[in-house]
Amino acid sequence: MKKNEPSNGMNRRQFLQMSTGCAVSAMVLGLDSSSSFAASNINDSKKGRKHVILNNGLRMPLLGLGTMTIKGEIGTRCVADAITLGYRLLDTATIYNSETTVAAGIKESGIKREELFITSKLWRADMGYEQTKKAFQTSIDNLGTDYLDLYLIHRPTAKNNDSWKAMEELYHQGKIKAIGVSNFDATQLADLIANSTVKPAINQIETHAFFQENKAFEYLKQSGVQMQAWSPFAEGRKGLFTNPTLASIGKKYNKTVAQVCLRWHYQRGIISIPRSSQKAHLSENIDIFNFKLDDADMGAIASLDLNTTQFPEWR
Ligand SMILES: NC(=O)c1ccc[n+]([C@@H]2O[C@H](COP(=O)([O-])OP(=O)(O)OC[C@H]3O[C@@H](n4cnc5c(N)ncnc54)[C@H](OP(=O)(O)O)[C@@H]3O)[C@@H](O)[C@H]2O)c1
Repeated sequence: MKKNEPSNGMNRRQFLQMSTGCAVSAMVLGLDSSSSFAASNINDSKKGRKHVILNNGLRMPLLGLGTMTIKGEIGTRCVADAITLGYRLLDTATIYNSETTVAAGIKESGIKREELFITSKLWRADMGYEQTKKAFQTSIDNLGTDYLDLYLIHRPTAKNNDSWKAMEELYHQGKIKAIGVSNFDATQLADLIANSTVKPAINQIETHAFFQENKAFEYLKQSGVQMQAWSPFAEGRKGLFTNPTLASIGKKYNKTVAQVCLRWHYQRGIISIPRSSQKAHLSENIDIFNFKLDDADMGAIASLDLNTTQFPEWR
């Protein structure tokens, strides 16, 4: 296959054949291979400390803070509050212009860098071998750190393979602990894997109750790439926060719709990064480790899937 060429059906089949039968290397701690939890994990109330092990052995929190529109003094306070509440995973990106705010929040919290898991993302305009190295340096400078825990290609472009080569080098130099992608479909992911030496650890994609991405859930599991949900609340679109099914499930456990949604992601073994600028919501969103959705709840949430994006403007 030529560099940057989308894979054809044959290559995708080859990829699937290659990956089928391989043990999934992204093991979710405390989860069995189905969607339900091992009982021993349920009552652990340490907030935000649940982790997955990525395919290169790195531990990554299953719940974190999204920072897409988090800026200025309010943003700084919000990041610092989140860290104080127990969040350890912070998700930012060059295009959000939130890296310096994240850095300020970390400083205000007083936490040690090594206690955090920081993700940033390479924007499409910065794709290409040299540009990627430059963009990475800008991101770590903005964040006031000398390494990233995770660096993602934000959106696929024709320069995926060139950027990936640069990211692999940075990974081997220890400047990034894990590398991954975002918004890649199965074909794009298979093509990248076929042209690389380091398998992506993560694919961060739109996932919420109204767009459950069940096919992606399966192919990512089979290929040993951890799934991560962006917009785990669909930004509240389509009335998510007042959905009667989610509200009635919440009522059973004295939990909010937001908590039901995040618990659902968590029980599927999917990393989520809800965003909030309100301390009460930050606190609510991390308080999901003391209840368990049963099979009927999981089934009722499954029935909410509209199997289509709620962000058509970004496609
Ligand atoms: N890779 C990608 O292409 C991509 C794309 C989109 C997003 N992302 C990442 O995913 C993160 C999350 O997605 P998102 O920011 O689009 O949206 P989201 O997390 O789905 O939803 C955020 C909205 O939910 C509200 N909210 C949060 N907690 C709540 C609660 N407990 N009760 C009621 N409302 C609540 C927030 O309002 P308040 O502030 O008032 O709480 C905010 O309006 C982003 O910040 C970003 O880091 C990645």
